[in-house]
Amino acid sequence: MAKKVAVIVGSLKAASINKKLALALGKLAEGKLEFSLVKIDDIPLFSEDLEANLPAPVARYKAEIEAADAVLFVTPEYNRSMPGVMKNLIDWGSRPYGKGSFGGKIAGIVGTSPGVVGTAAAQQDLRKLLTIFNMKIMGQPEVYLQTKPGLIADDYSITDEGTKKFLQGYVDKFAQFIG
Ligand code: FNR
Repeated sequence: MAKKVAVIVGSLKAASINKKLALALGKLAEGKLEFSLVKIDDIPLFSEDLEANLPAPVARYKAEIEAADAVLFVTPEYNRSMPGVMKNLIDWGSRPYGKGSFGGKIAGIVGTSPGVVGTAAAQQDLRKLLTIFNMKIMGQPEVYLQTKPGLIADDYSITDEGTKKFLQGYVDKFAQFIG
């Protein structure tokens, strides 16, 4: 049976290029991994005051992560780090104390931006954070993808052969890493 991957995209933008990348990777993973995009648009900002009685969207989010075999983090880059949206999701996933959802899970990190750095700085910060939870993070290959108009088509296929091959390689390695 295909292993389950909970995909966390750190963007609330309707036309998010990182969401597009996540869906393109899901397409390349068909038959190998079961990708499921975690719903994040109703998750509140973290407050310790909310921890005693977890908001329903947070409980659902944590359950989705816990039910998955692995987590794929797809991060945009804001000001050379991850967006607050991503940090908020990680803070919620780490709580309540002793009941975090990420502990020991397999993780992948990818991201895309229009700039040449392709989210490298954001991914570095994210990697540091995830080690706190003893996540088993796949180190190679690294995906620092510069998005160009038309690179990902409306049906989430990759239009550039070299990029498609590279991303297929990532998905195949991730499937092996999880297995
Ligand atoms: C950006 N962007 C950006 N890009 C980058 O490569 N490095 C950076 O440090 C930043 N900083 C940054 C800050 C803020 C506040 C915004 C709004 C944007 C551009 C960013 O990569 C671009 O908006 C992407 O489209 C964001 O990803 P999603 O939301 O489309 O997935």
